[in-house]
Amino acid sequence: MNRSPDLVDDIAEVLIPEDEIQAKVAELGARVSADFAGLELTLVSVLKGSLPFMADLMRAITIPVQIDLMEVSSYGGTATESSGLVRILKDLSSSIDGRHVLIVEDIIDTGLTLNYLVRYLRGKNPASLRICTLLDKPARRLVEIPIDYLGFEIPDQFVIGYGLDYGERYRNLRFVGVLRPEVYAGPE
Ligand code: IMP
Repeated sequence: MNRSPDLVDDIAEVLIPEDEIQAKVAELGARVSADFAGLELTLVSVLKGSLPFMADLMRAITIPVQIDLMEVSSYGGTATESSGLVRILKDLSSSIDGRHVLIVEDIIDTGLTLNYLVRYLRGKNPASLRICTLLDKPARRLVEIPIDYLGFEIPDQFVIGYGLDYGERYRNLRFVGVLRPEVYAGPE
């Protein structure tokens, strides 16, 4: 992997700039606040990629919410392709029985991770279960996922930034972008 000391030097293109992300998050927060007014809502974020989105979205929501965090990893895949085999690294810390649950995801690619998670969370008897994702890559979908709240549909490109990583890097960028091809070229 040929990586520069400064993350920005590895970027080929900014796909979604910071101001567009922030405007979209504000819009999604307003919609969620209106749709769940008066209800018991739990936001379930899927670590690590959803961390910046969750932090911004929860502050754009004006109704009381509880938050919970899960961490899952897909295994058997490569750095840029998921395998669909999902392992739970961190489970919910509170019960969602009878609560309205909104899953907060960074990106839906094949949909395999979320498909697993939805089935897992349905088994915990929530009053309702909806999905909010910042990014959607519909070109690569293998299972149908009903998205209730969507930030941006993007083309079939591997993206990094605003939580998304390549080899655990680039999560702390404020925008969503595409890496220069040379970054993938070298040894890991
Ligand atoms: P899926 O199971 O194929 O939908 O993949 C979901 C997970 O793969 C996401 O939560 C990300 O962690 C990761 N992923 C998918 N596409 C990308 C990408 O373009 N950049 C970074 N991570 C990605």
